[in-house]
Amino acid sequence: MNKIFNHSCEDMFEIPDKSVSLMVTSPPYNIDIQYGHKWENGKQVESKGVKYSDNLEENAYRAMLSRVIEETKRVLKDDGQIWFNIKNRYDKGVIIPPFWIMDFFKDMYLKNIIIWNFDWGGATSKRFCSRYEYVFFFTKQKEKYTFNLDDVKIPALNYRPDRYKSQLKNPTDVWKISMVSGNSPERTDHPAQYPEELIERIIKVGTNPGDLVLDPFMGSGTTAAVAKKLGRQYVGYELEPEYIKIAEERLKNGTPTLF
Ligand SMILES: C[S@@+](CC[C@H](N)C(=O)[O-])C[C@H]1O[C@@H](n2cnc3c(N)ncnc32)[C@H](O)[C@@H]1O
Repeated sequence: MNKIFNHSCEDMFEIPDKSVSLMVTSPPYNIDIQYGHKWENGKQVESKGVKYSDNLEENAYRAMLSRVIEETKRVLKDDGQIWFNIKNRYDKGVIIPPFWIMDFFKDMYLKNIIIWNFDWGGATSKRFCSRYEYVFFFTKQKEKYTFNLDDVKIPALNYRPDRYKSQLKNPTDVWKISMVSGNSPERTDHPAQYPEELIERIIKVGTNPGDLVLDPFMGSGTTAAVAKKLGRQYVGYELEPEYIKIAEERLKNGTPTLF
């Protein structure tokens, strides 16, 4: 398919039923990120694109995500899977964990809650700085789904030839992967880009070459760029035309990557 559509992913009418092998996404977190604005030297510069509001009323926000997840289930193959990246929010002095999303996946199988751990981010002085986000991994079927563990194994630091058959090990459910820093080669103008390395592991483990990967909230096109590099097909949606341009540029030229 290899296309990013410029309208809301609440209706994915272009995608046939049961055609997608894997969905991976990072939805808007509803934390008032200024999508659609450009920043230069610390100053906000207007862009011409749509200004997506990242501060929806809570019920409207959850209803929007619920519609997107229902649409995803329609387009997902029977042996398909969903990887959903979301984090705790801090609002009016308290942490709001995102476990309410589980209500939308009652008909799927929760296989992992990945803790994506990184080294840097916002500073806090009266509580510990937060240095992780979640990636929820759900499958449509209990047993039948792609899981290419050998393709994503990592070096075992405590390898002992007398004890272990291989120098490689299961990466576990805690993944230490850097956020995309300001001077990283994969950095674009998108304010909430996730790292290619994170998506590489997910697409490699959960799909085979030629499979179709969906990202309903495509942003700067990280999912599409990684899918393309790994020989998978991609499809997605993005409200902001400026971000589609960034994604298309990335897909055309490729980005220097960490892998
Ligand atoms: C967290 S960002 C995704 C960033 C992406 N993972 C990347 O690496 O660049 C969420 C994106 O969803 C877009 N968006 C918000 N609501 C949308 C909707 N209903 N349909 C499609 N895109 C939407 C926003 O413009 C934003 O670019």
